[in-house]
Order: sequence, then C-alpha cells, then structure tokens
Amino acid sequence: MINQLFARKPAEWVASDIKTNQLKRVLSRWNLTTMGVGAIIGAGIFVMTGLAAREYAGPALAISFIIAGLGCSFAALCYAEFASIYPVEGSAYSYSYATIGELFAWIIGWDLILEYAMAASTVAVGWSGYFGKLLGLLHIHLPLWISNDLQTARALVAEASNNGTMPVLEQHYTSLALPEVFGISLAINLPAIIIVLIVTAIITIGVRETAGTNLWLVAIKVSVVLFVIVAGVFFIDTANWSPFIPARGLNGEGVMAFGLAGITAGAAYIFFAYIGFDAVATQAAESKNPTKDLPFAIIASLVICTILYIAVSLVVTGMVNYTLLDKAAPVAAAFMGRGMNFAVWIISIAAVAGLTSVLLVMTMGQTRILMAMSKDGLLPAKIFAYVHPRLKTPSRSSILVGILIALVAGFTPIDTIAKLVNIGTLLAFVLVCISVWRLRYTQPDLPRPFRVKALPLVAILGIVFNFGMMLSLEWENWLRLLIWLLIGLAIYFFYSRKRSLLGKHLKEGNETFHQIGEKHDHDKPTINNE
Ligand code: ALA
Repeated sequence: MINQLFARKPAEWVASDIKTNQLKRVLSRWNLTTMGVGAIIGAGIFVMTGLAAREYAGPALAISFIIAGLGCSFAALCYAEFASIYPVEGSAYSYSYATIGELFAWIIGWDLILEYAMAASTVAVGWSGYFGKLLGLLHIHLPLWISNDLQTARALVAEASNNGTMPVLEQHYTSLALPEVFGISLAINLPAIIIVLIVTAIITIGVRETAGTNLWLVAIKVSVVLFVIVAGVFFIDTANWSPFIPARGLNGEGVMAFGLAGITAGAAYIFFAYIGFDAVATQAAESKNPTKDLPFAIIASLVICTILYIAVSLVVTGMVNYTLLDKAAPVAAAFMGRGMNFAVWIISIAAVAGLTSVLLVMTMGQTRILMAMSKDGLLPAKIFAYVHPRLKTPSRSSILVGILIALVAGFTPIDTIAKLVNIGTLLAFVLVCISVWRLRYTQPDLPRPFRVKALPLVAILGIVFNFGMMLSLEWENWLRLLIWLLIGLAIYFFYSRKRSLLGKHLKEGNETFHQIGEKHDHDKPTINNE
C-alpha cells in the first residue's frame, strides 16, 4: 500500500495517454495564448482591484500586482517545462503523478478543483454583479432575492440600514423582501446560475466553438482594458499617488493594513487576477503542437496580463484617491467620477463579456483535469472520461461540472469562495515548483523541449513567493483548505486507491517506473468509459 501512495505513473503510460487522445487537435499557439488571456483577465481586475487598493495597499497596489505577478511567473516557467515534457490535459495533476507519486497527484488534482471549479463559481458571482449593473443602466431591476445568495442579500440590507443608504438599495432592486418557505428565508443568485448553464452548453457543444466564442470575448475585454489605460492616463492626478505606500494603519474592516504588510496582503488577494494562465496546460490534448505551443502560450498570456494589470492599477489609483475607490466596480466608477459616464457602459459590457470568457476556460479546464484523473482510474471513467462520439467533448463531465459550479455560484458569497480559490491555487503552484525541481534530479535525461534556465533558483523563488502569499491570507482560509484536503483524502482512501490502474498494476507484481525510451513490456491498461 505504501508503495502505491508513492508510485509514479510510468512514462509509457503518459505516452500512451497522448497516443490514445480522442479529443480534436485544433488549437494553435495563438488560440492557446488567447485562451490564457481569456482565463486570466476577469473578476480580479474588474472587481477586486477596488477593495485591494482601499483596504490593503493603496496606490502601492501596483507593487502588489508586481509581487503576485512574479510569484506567478516563477510558477509559469515551471508549468511550461512540465507542459513540454508531459503535454497531457491533467496539468499539475498529471505532472506530479509522473514525478512524485499517486497520493501527491491526487492531492494536487483535488486541490485544482478549488482553482478551476470554485474560481468559475466566483467569477459567475462577479458576472452577475456586472450584469445587474448593465440591467440597471437599461432601467431594468430585479428583486434582491433572485440576484444574490442569502448571506449577501442579508448583508446588503444590514449595511444599507446601518449607513442610512436604504433608498439607494431600494432603487437597485424591485423588492428587498426575502420570500420564506416553512419559515426559512430564500435567496438565490439566478443570473450567476444562468450564465454557468449557458457556458456549460457551449463547452459541451465543442472545442472549436469554445475557442471561437472565446476569441471574440477576449478581443472585447482586451480592447476595453487598453481603452482604460489610454483614456485614463489623461485623468491621472499624481497627487492621488501620494503617499504611494500609505502608512500602516487600520483599514475599513478595522484590520491592520497598508505599509509593506498591506502590499503583501494585497498581493495575496489580487493573486486571483492572475489565476488562469495554467489553464492553458489543460488544453494539451486539443493543441496542435503542445510541446512547443504550451510553454509559449503560458508565458505569453501571463506577460501580457501582468503588463496590463500594472498599468490599470496605476491609472485607477491615479484617477481616484484610493480611499474613494468603488468596491464593486472600481474601474467603471473611476471614469464615472471624472464625468465619463459613457465609459461605464463600455466597461460594464466588457466586464460581462470578459468574465464570460474566464468562465468558459475555467469550466473547460476543470473537465479536462477530471478526465485525466478518471483515465488513471481515480474517478469514475463512465462519467469523467466519456467523450461524446459526435461532439468529441467530455459531455457528461461538462454537464455535471456545470451543475456543481452553478449550485455553488447560486448560493455562496463571492469573498468566501475567492480566498479559498487563492489559497488552493497558491498551494498547487508551490507543489508544481517542488515537483519540477525534483524531476531534474530524479530524471535528468528526460527530453525537455522547454527547459527553465536558472533552476533551482526559479523553483525556489516560486516556492518563496507563493508560500509567502499563502501566509498573508487569514487563518480561516487555511482551515477551509485543510477541510477540503481532508475530504479529498477520505475519497482517495475509500474510493480511488482501490480503483487506481497503477495500484492494480502494482498488485500484479509490476514495477512502476521506466525512463522514456527504455524497453518495457506492460502498456497502460485501458478503461471502459462507455
Ligand atoms: N483570473 C481570473 C479572474 O480574475 C480568474 O477572474
């Protein structure tokens, strides 16, 4: 049993996964890069920037973006090396299975659900907020109870009554009453659920359709981000940047912030804005030339977004004093404050489009990781490895994942999920940095079409930056992460371990590890996924 926990997936099995790929290879390097940008630019920059500047970092939010961007860059280089060695859809899960062992791979795979599915839920909630704003511009209003989860609905009412802003809230919604069934109040974020179901339908229909839809959405959002930077520059008042790093003190929540610690706390929070570059790696099985194009797309999409983020954060904090930034729609509100009301339209439309593209890539990425795990026997193959014969997409998995994402989005507040996503993703990045470093020692001769130059330095920096950001998150998030991992471990020990193909292979007295190119006599058994 101990053997199995640390058993590594044989190199030939990885090769056989690549050979038996049933998905269509349709994505070029620029499709992949666009998908990366599609996954990255979203709620982080459009929604979270306001709170991050106001509550944590002030104008120095740009430095927070640099810190988070550096942490991601080191991890991205490690991802790129892995993606070139193992161009399979399971991303970090598959890399660690081939290098460190089954239990570790399971932990990463389980952890990645936090990154992909839960991030998609977070983004759907952000989408719903911007969608509500757009409807408001069209003078269409919904009742409070179908636009928010219960906790958020109650918090909005409580905050408005404390601040004396009830009339403003009443203007936003047709009714503030929460219906009751058997004495239990009801509230549901219906727009968030609907957008997730639409996205699920698109990814179930096909990859080419997804890439095509994504291209348009990404074009719209990048154009608007560029518009924000170019138009916003003319409204910068450098007095707003002074002091650039506000002195350490209490933020609006009454928590210590600002100063250098505020910059790192800000980095750990807006780290969410960068999540997604690694989603490119989950498209390996649909990429035309994965060993070359994946590393290119991972790094290119991250570099593009880092530059845009630093510029946007400087512009926004230059346009409006950070203490006055809007928490829900900071970018749009900065322009409104300068009398450019038409920009609110443009930015809200772009945010709705932009967040949709994040949802597309994240939801699709999740199904690809689950597919990889089920091909190894760790999850039920009939659901997660099933590829629809005509559509050539993992239709059953897409529908199931879509429903789960929709349910979480419909009933959970955005902040709770976002921080859980961050801590889970940071952990995955740390583990990827450790794995790539270790692989250099355990399999130094493995062909590496993309090779990180300064290893182990890059891996060490990746570990330090990403673990440092984890430490900047409040302890509640650590507790939630721990509970999530414990649930995952229970599933592993009660279900996956017994069904693992590698476990069965070991029981038959086989060894697990072969160097690529070495002669071997046991191919990966196939699974029945019909
Ligand atoms: N980076 C993505 C976003 O900001 C997840 O929405």
